[in-house]
Amino acid sequence: VSLIRSSTPQTTRVLLTGGAGFIGCALSRRLVAGGASVTVVDSLHPQVHAGGGRPAALPAEVDLVPFDVTTASTWDALLGLVRPEVVVHLAAETGTGQSLRESTRHCHVNVLGTAQMLDAFSRADFVPPHIVLPSSRAVYGEGEWELDGTRYLPGARRHADLAAGRWDPVCADQRAGRALPSRAAHTPPNPTNVYAATKLAQEHICAAWAASMGTALSILRFQNVYGVGQSLANPYTGVLALFTRLAVTGKPIEVYEDGRIVRDFVYVDDVVDAVMRAIERPPREVRCVDIGSGSPRTLLSVAELIADIAGGKPPVVTGAFRDGDVRSASCSIDDARAELGYEPAWDLADGVKALARWTLESLEYAPG
Ligand SMILES: NC(=O)c1ccc[n+]([C@@H]2O[C@H](COP(=O)([O-])OP(=O)(O)OC[C@H]3O[C@@H](n4cnc5c(N)ncnc54)[C@H](O)[C@@H]3O)[C@@H](O)[C@H]2O)c1
Repeated sequence: VSLIRSSTPQTTRVLLTGGAGFIGCALSRRLVAGGASVTVVDSLHPQVHAGGGRPAALPAEVDLVPFDVTTASTWDALLGLVRPEVVVHLAAETGTGQSLRESTRHCHVNVLGTAQMLDAFSRADFVPPHIVLPSSRAVYGEGEWELDGTRYLPGARRHADLAAGRWDPVCADQRAGRALPSRAAHTPPNPTNVYAATKLAQEHICAAWAASMGTALSILRFQNVYGVGQSLANPYTGVLALFTRLAVTGKPIEVYEDGRIVRDFVYVDDVVDAVMRAIERPPREVRCVDIGSGSPRTLLSVAELIADIAGGKPPVVTGAFRDGDVRSASCSIDDARAELGYEPAWDLADGVKALARWTLESLEYAPG
């Protein structure tokens, strides 16, 4: 392991796994601005980092250690050099649909990588005072639905139903109700793809370890994060990045199913704000809260907004679908407000304008 230290005077020592990615770079900037000492470990995954080198968005003050979190020996070398007060475990394979066909990869990095990190802490006789685990709304699967005052918990939608255009998950008598916002304290997790299952496994593994080691754990279940800096090269994640790219290059946005898939899009700066608040206020034991904008939208309405802002062609509803996708994802942010003082500041139109500007600039430098 080679680690080139920065010369800035520092306070809190923070380790970010996967810190060279979309959320990690934005978080690094906020941490560095606040005077923290930041070390990033990241394998610079080729699916995310097209160029392969140190991302320009990562502040110069950050120590970047390029390694794979599944490698035990490198963890041991790293912990000989740094003893962080806070670990934010972002490193992950994040392809929702991709995970159904490449489940080994997702399980290897997300589950085994988490276990390798915790075992390395144990071998080093080191318990970080606070671990922050960015989890995902994906753990809820279809979440909870309601019809005529009765709640139901649908499982994964079947391929045959999707192929027949039956989009909404139905209750026992085959009628469809309406989706309810998820809330960590009440909604049971029910993953419908392998990525989601690995994120839930990360939660359980970290919770078991944190409880027995007596350390604080913040689990933050992010809704769909978007914004400046999201990989434009990765075709497997970031539907808003994809939509924006199509719109600014004059192509029509293709919207799946009947256009009425629902998502909560939260701007990356708001997510970073939530993580900063979690770091500043460690829980006594474990906390698990949902982080979103609190304002769910249909994908068609978002596509129309993007086409309008970017001056692109009107979106096309295709009726195509992806196995493992959920119909509706949204959350209550009341617990994040109460627990963290979190309040999202970004309105979707402003976020899309920022993303469209940045996408255009990025494509001018790297067209294709
Ligand atoms: N972006 C979202 O909408 C969203 C939503 C919910 C949860 N999350 C979670 O947030 C975290 C960060 O997501 P992101 O959007 O910044 O993704 P990203 O792909 O931009 O960043 C992930 C980073 O992890 C690195 N990485 C992948 N495999 C690795 C390995 N084996 N060893 C070391 N590093 C590795 C990648 O190189 C990348 O830099 C992930 O844990 C993801 O599950 C993201």
